[in-house]
Amino acid sequence: MVPLNLQISSIVVLWILSSFHSSICSSHKLVRCNKKDRTTLLTFKQGVTDNFNRLSSWSTQQDCCAWQGVHCHNITGRVTKLDLTPPPGLFKPLAGECNLSLLLGLEFLQFLDLSDNYFHTITTHGNFTASSLHYLETSQYDTTHIDNLQWLSRLSSIKYLDLSSIDLHKETSWLQLVAMLPSLSELHLRSCELNNILPSLNYVNLTSLKTLDLAGNNFHNELPKWLLNLSDISYIDLSYNQLKGSIPKGIGQLEHLQFLDLSDSMFSGIIPSSTLGNLSSLVTLSVGSNSFFGTISETTFSKLSNLEDLYLSNSTFAFHLDPTWSPPFQLRTLDLGNTNQGPHLPEWIYTQKSLQYLDISSSGISLLDWDKFWRIVQDIEFLYLSNNSISGDISNITFNNIILIDLNHNNFTGQLPNILSTNIRKVDLSYNSFSGTMPDNWKSWKDLELINLWSNNLSGELPMDLTSFKKLAVVNLGKNEFFGTIPTNIPQYLQALILRFNHFEGNIPLQIFNLSLLFYLDLAHNRLSGFIPQCIYNITEMVDKDLVTNNGLYVDYKIDVFTKGHDYEINFDLLHRTVDLSVNNLSGEIPSSLYGLILVHTLNLSYNHLTGTIQKEIGGMKELESIDLSNNKLIGEIPTSMAAMSFIDYLNLSCNNLSGQIPTGTQLQSFDASSYIGNPELCGAPLRSCTAKEENGKHIHMDARNEDNRESFYVGMGVGFAVAFWGTCGSLFLVRRWRHTYYRWLDQLWDQLYVTFMVTFNHFFPN
Ligand SMILES: *[C@@H]1O[C@H](CO)[C@@H](O)[C@H](O)[C@H]1NC(C)=O
Ligand SMILES: *[C@@H]1O[C@H](CO)[C@@H](O)[C@H](O)[C@H]1NC(C)=O
Ligand SMILES: *[C@@H]1O[C@H](CO)[C@@H](O)[C@H](O)[C@H]1NC(C)=O
Ligand SMILES: *[C@@H]1O[C@H](CO)[C@@H](O)[C@H](O)[C@H]1NC(C)=O
Ligand SMILES: *[C@@H]1O[C@H](CO)[C@@H](O)[C@H](O)[C@H]1NC(C)=O
Ligand SMILES: *[C@@H]1O[C@H](CO)[C@@H](O)[C@H](O)[C@H]1NC(C)=O
Ligand SMILES: *[C@@H]1O[C@H](CO)[C@@H](O)[C@H](O)[C@H]1NC(C)=O
Ligand SMILES: *[C@@H]1O[C@H](CO)[C@@H](O)[C@H](O)[C@H]1NC(C)=O
Ligand SMILES: *[C@@H]1O[C@H](CO)[C@@H](O)[C@H](O)[C@H]1NC(C)=O
Ligand SMILES: *[C@@H]1O[C@H](CO)[C@@H](O)[C@H](O)[C@H]1NC(C)=O
Ligand SMILES: *[C@@H]1O[C@H](CO)[C@@H](O)[C@H](O)[C@H]1NC(C)=O
Ligand SMILES: *[C@@H]1O[C@H](CO)[C@@H](O)[C@H](O)[C@H]1NC(C)=O
Repeated sequence: MVPLNLQISSIVVLWILSSFHSSICSSHKLVRCNKKDRTTLLTFKQGVTDNFNRLSSWSTQQDCCAWQGVHCHNITGRVTKLDLTPPPGLFKPLAGECNLSLLLGLEFLQFLDLSDNYFHTITTHGNFTASSLHYLETSQYDTTHIDNLQWLSRLSSIKYLDLSSIDLHKETSWLQLVAMLPSLSELHLRSCELNNILPSLNYVNLTSLKTLDLAGNNFHNELPKWLLNLSDISYIDLSYNQLKGSIPKGIGQLEHLQFLDLSDSMFSGIIPSSTLGNLSSLVTLSVGSNSFFGTISETTFSKLSNLEDLYLSNSTFAFHLDPTWSPPFQLRTLDLGNTNQGPHLPEWIYTQKSLQYLDISSSGISLLDWDKFWRIVQDIEFLYLSNNSISGDISNITFNNIILIDLNHNNFTGQLPNILSTNIRKVDLSYNSFSGTMPDNWKSWKDLELINLWSNNLSGELPMDLTSFKKLAVVNLGKNEFFGTIPTNIPQYLQALILRFNHFEGNIPLQIFNLSLLFYLDLAHNRLSGFIPQCIYNITEMVDKDLVTNNGLYVDYKIDVFTKGHDYEINFDLLHRTVDLSVNNLSGEIPSSLYGLILVHTLNLSYNHLTGTIQKEIGGMKELESIDLSNNKLIGEIPTSMAAMSFIDYLNLSCNNLSGQIPTGTQLQSFDASSYIGNPELCGAPLRSCTAKEENGKHIHMDARNEDNRESFYVGMGVGFAVAFWGTCGSLFLVRRWRHTYYRWLDQLWDQLYVTFMVTFNHFFPN
């Protein structure tokens, strides 16, 4: 749930900040900046690393009141506001050193926002008073260190303090220092590595405090007693800690409490209805991912008429809600994911007419009333129904405002539902039985970032030009019945393209190898033909570690990945770089530029008609963990450079025409014969030794020359073996489970049959 809140609050913050920006930029053409303040700001700038030239206006040529982010009093010309947060939506952080004491030395500074930058140190040595400051926000992208918090006591007017993501684990008296700030109303210390919440302290003098945000720290205590003394508090976020014990009854007396988030901790015990149920001001309640038990019933909510956001996901409460219950609230957010609700969708949910966010994934739902359900979801923005057993044809359902829809792992049939919303960002309808074609209007989904239709029964052709999807990062249309050619105009920021198991034909478009952010390319099991493009491969993400960028479009997503001869689920976070073009009709040589994709982990070109040699450049692919070039027509020797590819733990070069000795080197010898089998001219460990072949060959050859009846015996065996062998090579990939058994068996037969077969076979079918 926190991500949504973060999203919403960061949108709000961005909006506030952008309003600030415009007011800053318009209002001080006339003011003359104070010289002392200007000197202070220029000194500050010297410590800053400004890679994006955000402080270029900070020069002696200009009135400092007109500098980017600087705001002065309109009469005195003293600096009153400083906003150094990057422009909304852009990742342009300042870095280097932030001498906070310099800025706090600006005597009339009231507002200081340094958030969303990348300062690696924040120093606070120095003599300043900062008695005018009432707003300070320093939260950084990454954890930053700060010496200590003693300086806080000097901020005598501070009302809003946000030091999130600053490492404060050494500061044991953080609470006492904060309590010395008489006007403090809002405190955010998220992810500050704080260890001790001082649970036994009875009273903390935070009489003005309205907002307490201590999420994501390392508290492993019980809920502190002092919390219950904060009688004016309206917002408490203690999520993502290891807080334990039960919820004290006193919580029920915090009559102004509007927001309570205790999720993702280690709380246990029963939540008495008289406690939470008494919080009549509550708007947001989040207690999921704990070990609470007991019952959730109507009385739990009887006074919560203001409730709008309810997060109970991943909890083990028993839900005893009367089907005729009519809740006193109308929710905006309901998260019941991974709770035990089914098989019917709880009746009371149909009474919620203002839902923007509904998560009932993994909740054992199989039955719902589509007429009623449609009415509550038609204007919804976020809908998660994945991993239930819901069936039915929803082609009649129209989503007007949907931003994210996740219906994976259900039994939906019929055409895809009607998504009219043009700001849809993520569509996951995978693992269902949808059929028909892509809806006509899908080209209007301009904000689409991810589409996953894996494992359905969808068909039709794709439009040639997908460039209108400017933000599209993940396309998974695998395991369907799509046909036609692969679109030639592909969005430039694509990160994963999965068209596996379809009927695509024609060539692989050149443009694919120019997608700088692509890290997952799977076109396997189609009917693609022609050459693998010979162009310059410019997939920066696969070519050059130093150029690997995170442009913020990155999508965190789980997907089935095929590697090392089997499949498993993986998180895209792991950046498992893959090129899989297997089981197509590709011909020609493997272009040398393909070997330039040196960051690739999995390379699979098996079951094509590729010719030529494996070039020594393959040895440069130092990250390769899984290589499959089997079932092609590759010739020549295995390059010795492959012996040094130390990360490989799956290798398959079988069923080609490779020849010569397998290079000796620990890596290549550690695979069993199945990695090399079916290359008649290949020898050396783990196949039979190269010299043995010659000796045996002579021996057999002599025998064959001498005895006619024996020759016919070999012929019979040879042809039979050839049929059996090639039949097996052609179909083995279908029965992976059997492969190892088969190869083990084949291995034993191999030494006995190989020479016989080859000699006889060559003798009768020379060419
Ligand atoms: C200065 O700002 C105040 C409000 O902040 C405004 O009322 C006043 O008119 C302004 N004075 C000038 C000279 O712009
Ligand atoms: C930061 O500025 C103060 C002046 O306020 C100065 O005393 C201190 O040395 C500076 N710190 C660093 C690390 O430059
Ligand atoms: C800090 O400044 C105050 C006045 O602004 C002064 O009284 C005090 O002596 C100074 N302390 C140091 C250590 O410079
Ligand atoms: C609490 O803080 C206020 C304001 O700083 C102060 O007036 C009051 O005396 C303090 N009370 C206690 C018990 O420390
Ligand atoms: C704080 O809590 C203690 C014990 O619960 C109580 O005795 C005291 O009156 C409370 N103080 C305030 C200011 O609420
Ligand atoms: C319920 O809240 C009221 C104030 O809103 C308070 O007086 C009462 O003690 C609370 N009851 C419980 C059981 O917490
Ligand atoms: C669900 O809650 C349990 C604790 O009750 C926790 O260990 C687990 O990580 C949570 N799962 C998720 C997906 O949040
Ligand atoms: C799917 O839902 C069931 C409960 O219905 C749950 O046990 C299981 O863990 C869920 N699977 C996933 C992958 O979330
Ligand atoms: C879908 O339905 C089939 C039979 O109708 C059933 O075997 C399968 O388990 C169902 N799948 C899900 C995810 O409910
Ligand atoms: C879709 O709606 C039409 C008209 O409202 C209706 O006739 C048809 O049966 C519906 N189809 C499904 C699958 O619900
Ligand atoms: C897939 O759709 C085709 C028609 O497009 C239909 O004949 C076939 O039965 C469907 N298969 C499944 C498994 O639903
Ligand atoms: C490769 O891509 C980079 C940026 O992604 C671009 O600047 C460069 O011109 C491209 N090179 C070629 C040969 O296309």
